[in-house]
Amino acid sequence: MISQILREARTYEKNEGDLIPEENRPLFHLTPRIGWMNDPNGFSQHNGYYHLFYQYYPYQKKWGPMHWGHAISKDLLNWEFLPAALAPDTTPDSGGCFSGSALSLDDGRHLLMYTGVVRVSDLDDENFVQTQCLAAGDGTDYVKYQGNPVIDNSRIPEGLSRFDFRDPKMWRESDGTYRCVIGGCTKDKKGRILYFRSDDAFHWEFVSVLAANDGSLGTMWECPDFFELDGKYVLLISPQDVLQNEKYSCGNIVVALIGTFDPETGTFIKESEQLVDSGIDFYATQTLLTEDGRRIMTAWMQNWDSIVYTVRSIRWFGQMIVPRELSLKNGRLYQEPIRELNAMQRNRIAYENVKAEGYQTFDGINGRTIDLTVRIRPESEGSLRKFEIRFAEDETQYTSLIFRPSENSLEFDRSNSGTRRAVDHNKKAKVSDNGGELKLRCILDRFSCEFFINDGEQTMSYSLFTDHYSEGISFTASGSAVLDIEKYDLVK
Ligand code: FRU
Repeated sequence: MISQILREARTYEKNEGDLIPEENRPLFHLTPRIGWMNDPNGFSQHNGYYHLFYQYYPYQKKWGPMHWGHAISKDLLNWEFLPAALAPDTTPDSGGCFSGSALSLDDGRHLLMYTGVVRVSDLDDENFVQTQCLAAGDGTDYVKYQGNPVIDNSRIPEGLSRFDFRDPKMWRESDGTYRCVIGGCTKDKKGRILYFRSDDAFHWEFVSVLAANDGSLGTMWECPDFFELDGKYVLLISPQDVLQNEKYSCGNIVVALIGTFDPETGTFIKESEQLVDSGIDFYATQTLLTEDGRRIMTAWMQNWDSIVYTVRSIRWFGQMIVPRELSLKNGRLYQEPIRELNAMQRNRIAYENVKAEGYQTFDGINGRTIDLTVRIRPESEGSLRKFEIRFAEDETQYTSLIFRPSENSLEFDRSNSGTRRAVDHNKKAKVSDNGGELKLRCILDRFSCEFFINDGEQTMSYSLFTDHYSEGISFTASGSAVLDIEKYDLVK
C-alpha cells in the first residue's frame, strides 16, 4: 500500500520533473528529479542495477520534510529516475526519512535502513528524535517494517543525545551476518561513531564506539561509512561545525580516518587522517563495493554553507559528484573518476611540450562537458611564478584556478562566474611539492567542475552556475612554463 503522502510526491515529481529540459541538467551527474536534494542514500547494486537514493524534498528548492528520491543506472553515469521510494508517512518517521543505506537480502528483497525522525518541539534547535528504521522492497516500491524502529537510543551508550543519532550505513560480511555504523553524539556535541551487528539485518545489537571526537574535530559526525581498502580500514565521517586549523578549513567537511580494525572486539585504531576533498561543494560521502571489487564513492556536491549559490531558472538544487574509485597509496586515500567515464570520451585533442608565457588559448580546448588533463612544469627551475587556468569563460565571466609553485598552492575562485550571491567563492589548498610540477584532471559537466590533482592524490569539487554558452578556457603563465594538454569531449 502506497501512502497518500508518497503518492502525491510521485505524481508531483513526474508532472513537474519531466518538464525540465535535458540541457538544464548536468549530462552525467545525478540531480533530483525536481526540487531539493542533499545526501546520497542507499548506494547499492541490486538485481543488475546500481541504485542511488537521495535526501529529497520535491516541492521546493529547499530542505523540507525528507523523502528519499530514487534513480538507477547501469554505469553510474546514465541515470534513470524511479518514483520516490520513501516519504515521511509513519509514526517513527513522521518528521522525515533521513539518510541511510541499502543492501540485498537472500530472499531477493532490497532492504533500506534510514533514520526516522520525529519532531518534538519547535522551540529549540534539537527538535528531532532520531531512530533507525527499515523498509524492504522490489527495487521500486518499499514497505516499511512493522517493527520500526529497529534501533532506538535505548541501545546506545549512556550520555549520547537522542537528537543526534543518524545515518546508518549497513553492509553484509562474508559470513552472512550484517554490520552497520551510525553517527551519534554526546549531549555536549562531541561526535561518536557507533558500530552494530546483526544476524538477520532486522535485530541489531550495539558492539562498540568505533571512533570518538575529543572536541578537536567539529561537533556531530554525520554520514559514517566504514570499509576495508588495500589492507587498511577507512572510516569516512562528515564532521559538522569544524573550527579552522592548520589541517582543515572551517565548516562542514569530510574526513577519512585510516587505520586498523579488530572485528572480534570492534576496535578501530586510527593511524592517520586526511581531508577528503579540498573544494567548497562536497559533503556526506557514501560508498559501495562493486561486483568487480572496486570501492566507489559518491557524495553531495554541495555544502550546507554554500547552498545559496544557485540560479532561479533551474528547478532542481543539489547534485552528486562524479562517482570515484578509491585506493590507498602510501597510507593516503586517492580518488579517480570511475573508469566508466572513459567510454564517454570523444574527439581527443592534445598538445605536448608547449611553451607557455603570458596569455594563451588553444584551438579546440574549450567546452563545458569535457575531460581535460593539464600538466604544468616550470621551463627551468623557478621560472614559473603563477599559472592561471580560466574555465567557463566569455567576455565578462570566468572561473579560475591559480597554481603558485613557490607556495605549492592551488586557489579556486568563482566570484566572477556570473554569481550574484555573496557567499565564499574562493578557496585555497596546499598541494604536494613536486618541484613546481602539477598534474590536473578537470571534469566539467555544465553545472560543476571537479579537479583531480596529481593522479587523484587530492580533489576539489565545485558547483558552477555560469551560462552554458560560456565555454572558453585560457591559460596565463607569469614567468614561463611547459604544458601538456589533453582534452576529450564527454558525450552520451
Ligand atoms: C547530512 C544530514 C544527515 C541527515 C540528513 C538530513 O547532510 O544532516 O546527517 O541524515 O542530512 O537531510
